[in-house]
Amino acid sequence: MKLVSIVGARPQIIKAAALSRVIRQKYSNNITEIIVHTGQHYDEDMSKIFFEELQIPLPSYNLHIGSDTHGRQTSKMISGLEDVLLKEKPDYVVLFGDTNSTLAGAISASKIHVPIVHIEAGLRSFNKKMPEEINRIMCDHVSTFLFTPNKIAIKNLEREGFEVSQQLNYNIDKPGIFNVGDIMYDNFLYYSQKTLPGFHENNKMPGEYILATIHRDHNTDHPENLRNIFKALIDISNKYRIDIKIPLHPRTVKCMSENLAPSLLKKIDNSIYIEKLTPVSFLEMIELEKNAKLIITDSGGVQKEAYFFNKPCIILREETEWIEILETGMAVLCGANYRKIIDAFSAYDEVKIKNFPKIFGEGNTAELICEMLMKNIKKTKTINNNNVVNSS
Ligand code: UD1
Ligand code: UDP
Repeated sequence: MKLVSIVGARPQIIKAAALSRVIRQKYSNNITEIIVHTGQHYDEDMSKIFFEELQIPLPSYNLHIGSDTHGRQTSKMISGLEDVLLKEKPDYVVLFGDTNSTLAGAISASKIHVPIVHIEAGLRSFNKKMPEEINRIMCDHVSTFLFTPNKIAIKNLEREGFEVSQQLNYNIDKPGIFNVGDIMYDNFLYYSQKTLPGFHENNKMPGEYILATIHRDHNTDHPENLRNIFKALIDISNKYRIDIKIPLHPRTVKCMSENLAPSLLKKIDNSIYIEKLTPVSFLEMIELEKNAKLIITDSGGVQKEAYFFNKPCIILREETEWIEILETGMAVLCGANYRKIIDAFSAYDEVKIKNFPKIFGEGNTAELICEMLMKNIKKTKTINNNNVVNSS
């Protein structure tokens, strides 16, 4: 069986690591995987570092599309991906998550009838102003396999008319929908066992700190939102005398200089508590998450990793796809609201009982996906062979 896996943005490269690892370890006799990088993320610390550290095979193709407006970026990806798919003729295209690279993969593959496997299917924020919401809805509706990370995602799909059923072979009109758990949980279990020698000493890790990440366009591109978030971070760090480590996404760096007043930028730079970092590697991120007191983020992936590590999370969004986390009470939606962020921190500071039930599967998501795809290929081949026999 031949798969083409399409990645482009940081979290997709990290998710692809889990699938690639399992293919290499358990299915190398049955599955050939070709990795295609759209080039959506291209800085070394947003892309190359993950291939090296997580030992992902280097992409066979890099389209080097880079940054652009949504339409231009996606259209350039579509045309590059179509060429690759026509040449490689895979049995399946594997798409991760909800970025513009996912959307481009979905359009290019579905138009030339390459079956799509969507990993992290069925998630919804119910906010179509988010570019990711459009991407994930479009991708789900042209997929042949929708692998969801949780039960809520299955419900979301059923609400949109999908039917969950067992059948002989799945296709774009009758897709297979399976709740296989979260592929990021596979990664969490695997990589949280690994240690980074010297990390704590080299980084002068304080006893207690908050980890924060900000990159969502709703926060970075609206000056008022970005200002509120940074004011809240400064005030929390001063009041509680607690360090805040912030690995900054390149988008955020750019928007901080464009959207924040020089006086606020100076306060951030002069703060003895706020530490701006360049984007860190995944193993470094895992270390930072593991040892944080609490996590403040607008990232989808970091929300979940906070939960995996049993850390309370202040979510800098108005809504989230990860409703189950909210339901445990261990994360709270604050948007970019200064007051809500401050109050949430003080509330969690006092919470003694932590509640993190297991809700993201067993950590064998990549394996379940491989098994299901191989089964389907066998069934499809049997059906096609039977058809040939019958018609002759
Ligand atoms: C993208 C995804 C988002 C995901 C995020 C993960 C879409 C629509 N958004 O958002 O869902 O959560 O990736 O990180 O696909 N930039 C660089 N260097 C890079 C990459 C980006 O400088 O290597 C800067 C550029 O100024 C670029 C901006 O970041 O314009 C935004 O990058 P882009 O890939 O368009 O969106 P993200 O915000 O990264
Ligand atoms: N991450 C990382 N280094 C960083 C910031 C994040 O390795 O400096 C990892 C993080 O642990 C998670 C993933 O990147 O696995 C999340 O990506 P991001 O926040 O960019 O996107 P999202 O998940 O919101 O789509």
